[in-house]
Amino acid sequence: MGLFKSLFAPKEAKFVEVAPFGARYEVPSGQTMLEAALANGIPFPHNCTVGTCGSCKCKLKAGRVSALSDFGYTLSQQEIAAGFILACQAIPKDPLTQVEVEIQALDAPPPEKFTGKLVDTQTLTHDIVRITVELDRPIKFIAGQYANLKSPNINRARNYSFADAPDREGLASVNFFIRKVPGGAFTEELFAGRLKDIALDVEGPHGAFHLHAGTAPMICIAGGSGLAPLLSLLEAGRQDRVKRPCAFLFGARTQADLYALEQIQAIASSWADKFVLMPVLSHEPADSAWTGARGLVTQFITDAMPGIDWSNAEGYMCGPPGMIDAGIASMTETGMRLDKIFYDKFTDESHISKMP
Ligand SMILES: Cc1cc2nc3c(=O)[nH]c(=O)nc-3n(C[C@H](O)[C@H](O)[C@H](O)COP(=O)(O)OP(=O)(O)OC[C@H]3O[C@@H](n4cnc5c(N)ncnc54)[C@H](O)[C@@H]3O)c2cc1C
Ligand code: FES
Repeated sequence: MGLFKSLFAPKEAKFVEVAPFGARYEVPSGQTMLEAALANGIPFPHNCTVGTCGSCKCKLKAGRVSALSDFGYTLSQQEIAAGFILACQAIPKDPLTQVEVEIQALDAPPPEKFTGKLVDTQTLTHDIVRITVELDRPIKFIAGQYANLKSPNINRARNYSFADAPDREGLASVNFFIRKVPGGAFTEELFAGRLKDIALDVEGPHGAFHLHAGTAPMICIAGGSGLAPLLSLLEAGRQDRVKRPCAFLFGARTQADLYALEQIQAIASSWADKFVLMPVLSHEPADSAWTGARGLVTQFITDAMPGIDWSNAEGYMCGPPGMIDAGIASMTETGMRLDKIFYDKFTDESHISKMP
């Protein structure tokens, strides 16, 4: 086709087929695969819509897509290599794109909207606080899940993991561990004390991070505020008398960045099987009195649990994206299976500017 003809030729329609819904829909120019799915009433799993939570993850079976933001920030290298994409960031390029959504087997309560009030803020480290939010009614969730929190001044909700073990009847007062992100809309407001006595929109539960049934040894890695969902999951495991060996690696920069150690110790001392707690410091001054592990937390996996059958072990990780990516690489190097590594990456909007 000549240049003139190709410029004025009608744009080729782009269709998407989604398994297992058996849905087929057209994606108008400029829309993402997710936007068009929702406009067509297709229950495509999603939450943040800006490429940070991973809820819209699906497997590309046919066709090509372009990405509004880097899938690699939220998805792991291994997921990308296996063909996974984020529908909220994907614009179809070909006339027909086929994707498959993995329906989560997690039997979690459906998300609901709540009104919350920030009733307490406790300093945990120089950049992490524990906040207590009182809700208008109890919320039910599964240990490891998160809620969406929104103050009136931010454009969209942010995700925060429950730091408490759930309760069968629900919890009317919930705790979150929140790290200050410089320049972050929500956390700057929180750390400046501007969220006191303000009604917060709370919505949840969300997420698929949870303890999988079984007796395999489990290696947990937390970094920064990533401790919250792991504390929730381990405290629930302790209460349920889960009997499986557990190694807990807590990564921090210096001793001053470690917190809630007594809480982890309390879980360790009444865990129904062997429990190893190993804090690892990456930036502790060389001349300090620290006698524990030094370096990157993800390098201590085999030290924390020597001599186990790694092909049978499970990995649980929460924290900054870089730590999770390094953790997946270290865990798979031991022989751990990729489908036995579970994590929540604490992503934020900083990746948005990284796309050309
Ligand atoms: C599943 C999940 C669970 C999480 N759980 C927790 C938790 O328990 N505790 C916790 O502390 N965090 C958690 N997070 C992270 C949390 O949701 C927020 O992303 C984080 O607190 C930052 O929010 P913010 O509003 O302060 O920052 P944001 O406003 O999102 O900004 C973050 C950074 O990006 C920059 N930025 C913002 N917009 C742009 C843009 N358009 N272009 C370029 N840069 C930009 C900002 O300057 C800042 O440096 C979780 C995230 C996920 C996905
Ligand atoms: S909805 Fe796509 S990553 Fe959150």
